[in-house]
Amino acid sequence: METSPRHQDLIKTQFTQAAEAFAERSSGRFDVLNVVDFSRVESGQTVIEVGAGTANFISLFSEVAGLTAAFDLTPAMLLVAREKHPGVELVAADGMHLPVRSGSVDLGTTAQALHHIFQPVEVLKELRRVVRPGGRVLVVDSVTTESIEEALAMNELDLLRDPSHAAFRSPSTMRVLVQAAGLSIVDEHLSVEQQRLSEWMWPGEFAEGTIEKVRRFIEERGQETGMKFVKDGEDWVFERRRLMLLAERS
Ligand SMILES: C[S@@+](CC[C@H](N)C(=O)[O-])C[C@H]1O[C@@H](n2cnc3c(N)ncnc32)[C@H](O)[C@@H]1O
Repeated sequence: METSPRHQDLIKTQFTQAAEAFAERSSGRFDVLNVVDFSRVESGQTVIEVGAGTANFISLFSEVAGLTAAFDLTPAMLLVAREKHPGVELVAADGMHLPVRSGSVDLGTTAQALHHIFQPVEVLKELRRVVRPGGRVLVVDSVTTESIEEALAMNELDLLRDPSHAAFRSPSTMRVLVQAAGLSIVDEHLSVEQQRLSEWMWPGEFAEGTIEKVRRFIEERGQETGMKFVKDGEDWVFERRRLMLLAERS
């Protein structure tokens, strides 16, 4: 199975335009998550990431892993990754169809990418295929609350912000997706951080008209999203909920 050509185009258009600013804007966003310890990765192991973008996440494993490889649909993101993180191997590929031998990876990861994917179980199954028996899969993504109404509103907002958005899911849905791919969850952590609209949407990365539409939505319906928007002068502060799931291939 592969990502539909239409959705691939949306992803590539969005992230080609975003690439340079994205690397700066999102650097450091995983600092509080302590992902290397959480994933129990051991010295010299092979770690890969699907939807690695500019390699901000996978490069966190560079000091401990023997090999780190970044897989992404958007070549422009990988070009930025090459400048910023030269030690990471880069491969342009669809996460549903990885050019990787079965059972050859110790830790397969995906961070902040599943919400751009309409068939996340296919990607998770592919990660399961490439990790060795006893190997692990680490999933990190923004999540909604458990309220279906809040989830719908949060997704409506993100689709305004980014047309390549597929769906944010709730923690309970994320668990079901991981299990549906044949993986057993061994640990999880939900972090709730404060974020600002001005940090979430940089003018260089997003068109002025798009930022304006998002502002209007927040003013009119922000409270429906469960993101707890609070006005701060011209800016908005809100809660970003990020879930980490560590699962094992049994
Ligand atoms: C929000 S960025 C996350 C980048 C990086 N993981 C990070 O957190 O900094 C999402 C990335 O997923 C990639 N992507 C989306 N769908 C993909 C797919 N089916 N296969 C591979 N990459 C995909 C996009 O090209 C984009 O670079």
